[in-house]
Amino acid sequence: MAPVDPHSYTDSAHPLTTHVSLSLYFDFPSSTIHAAALLNLSSPYTGQLSLDARSLTVHGVLDPQTLAPLPFTLSPPDAVKGSLLSVALDSHASVLILYSTSPDSSALQWLSPPQTFNKTHPFVYTQCQSIHARSVFPCQDTPAARICYSAKLNVPRELSAVMSARHSGRRDPVAGDVSEGFKKVDSAAALNFESLWCGDGRVVEEFVMEQPIPPYLFAFAVGELGSREVGPRTRVYAENVAAVLDSAASEFAGTEDMVRQGEKLFGEYPWERFDLLVLPPSFPYGGMENPRMVFLTPTVIKGDASGAQVVAHELAHSWTGNLITNINNEHFWLNEGFTRYAERRIVEVVQGEERAILSMGIGWRTLNEAMERFKDNMEFTKLKTNQEGIDPDNVYSQVPYEKGFQFLARIERQIGRPAFDEFIKKYIENFKFKSIDTDTFLEFLKANVPGIEKEVDLKLWTEGTGIPPDAYEPVSDLYTTIVSLANEFKLGRMPREDEVANWRGQEWELYLENLPKCVEASQVLALDARYRMSESKDYEVKVAFLQMAISSKCRDYYPEVEKTLKEVGRMKYLRPLYTALVQGSGNEEEKILAKRLFAEARECYHPIAQGVVESILAKHL
Ligand code: BES
Ligand code: ZN
Repeated sequence: MAPVDPHSYTDSAHPLTTHVSLSLYFDFPSSTIHAAALLNLSSPYTGQLSLDARSLTVHGVLDPQTLAPLPFTLSPPDAVKGSLLSVALDSHASVLILYSTSPDSSALQWLSPPQTFNKTHPFVYTQCQSIHARSVFPCQDTPAARICYSAKLNVPRELSAVMSARHSGRRDPVAGDVSEGFKKVDSAAALNFESLWCGDGRVVEEFVMEQPIPPYLFAFAVGELGSREVGPRTRVYAENVAAVLDSAASEFAGTEDMVRQGEKLFGEYPWERFDLLVLPPSFPYGGMENPRMVFLTPTVIKGDASGAQVVAHELAHSWTGNLITNINNEHFWLNEGFTRYAERRIVEVVQGEERAILSMGIGWRTLNEAMERFKDNMEFTKLKTNQEGIDPDNVYSQVPYEKGFQFLARIERQIGRPAFDEFIKKYIENFKFKSIDTDTFLEFLKANVPGIEKEVDLKLWTEGTGIPPDAYEPVSDLYTTIVSLANEFKLGRMPREDEVANWRGQEWELYLENLPKCVEASQVLALDARYRMSESKDYEVKVAFLQMAISSKCRDYYPEVEKTLKEVGRMKYLRPLYTALVQGSGNEEEKILAKRLFAEARECYHPIAQGVVESILAKHL
């Protein structure tokens, strides 16, 4: 009777779910899914089974064999974990749950036609990491558990569906799809599920996922989708708008190269397909590593190397994260730190060492900034964190990524690359399809690299706060030049045209990241007059510039800030801009602006992003 995860009601004494069959009826006008979930457990159980649920209406829980109702209770929601769905079992090895999602399901963003690229069709997609799968279906929503699944998605005929699973068909709905159980609870729920399911103009898309995944990797998107082939195992999907599909196809043309490189470094690509889905601009992340189909923000399509770096990162998760998974979010660095490291190894081969070092340099900057952000809350500067009562979305930072990267790079420096490469391959082979914690990693490291604990302070790296003294600021001519040019700006010298002639987005990003947060408004204006960063098509550059403009109270740029906050929903951009507006004192005007912008833009953000912006405003207003 012990929790296995601070973010889940899953009980260590209960059998885990091994398979879920879902029937999902998408009702776009009400932004609701009416659904049946059949959960199979690893063994029969007698007693109260604990499941996670969030903003779900449970119509009934049944014994799938007899269709006898099973008693259940749904607790009032905890702010972080959501509700406990407790079902009374008596030697049952499966349960059938009939339920509906709510329009504010935290995983789902329902977009009306005006919020999409094509402007003519609605769109809906999931973002389940870290703890939002429970708002799509009741489950043991912890990465300690792994499930296979099958799913029938009933959608309007003019739309199609994709999932992080194998597509097994598109066909007309038939009455037999609908569980008999539904008819039993229908009258109570006043739904008439069968006639909805078989209604005019509907189609069923079927999927199966035969490889066990943690629930946070469950994913679908439904919309008017199109696709382009870009490689032997890669297609890019997006809304069916030629300009979007074409630019995505050319941006990601090098994907197969990276997959091959990943295979060389980490072993055979284990998920068969590596498709990409480009989402509407409100997608809250840069990318999400849903297996077989990575989800991407359209802001990565800008015709330079950095879009491929995001794909390299999500690809790397195919091994580190999806194959070996952190047992819960307290060990998130095992996912992201390893993936950062693996991403840069791929980038080094396909884009060259210079690009990889630039990426490390940007990482070094962001790690130092993250230390600044958490200076009053040092817990979140650790690799292994205590997240009891903590919402992972609120403490998301670059620490697990960049400190995790630094830790692995430190071990690599100690033992040399060939030995480290061998270690990583062995690590992946040993723990594939398992969920592990930091200690398990350390034990494996010590067993395979004898004496490492005498050379590297493993405890300081994993349990200590701040940046350990043996971390490493990257060096290269380009990196050093950019950092020193940024230092000269502080003394009043702007880079000359010839000095920046070959700079691309990442060079500018690194330059801006190294400028002081707050400078004279006249300097902000002068820099922009020369290099036009406020109009950059590259959001990394534009947002870094606007952040400095806000902190420097250079109000000329507020219309551009407004435009940016209304056109994208990627949290990497929302966080710094809203934070710059509201933090500190003497910025009453900015605080009012932030409140107004959020009120006006809120509807366009994914629910996770809405929550994150709300917590930024709540902290400072
Ligand atoms: N898995 C993450 C995204 C994520 C993290 C979603 C935590 C929910 C909770 C993904 O792999 C990621 O790290 N994305 C980065 C891309 C970047 C590191 C190239 C992002 O979105 O910025
Ligand atoms: Zn990642």
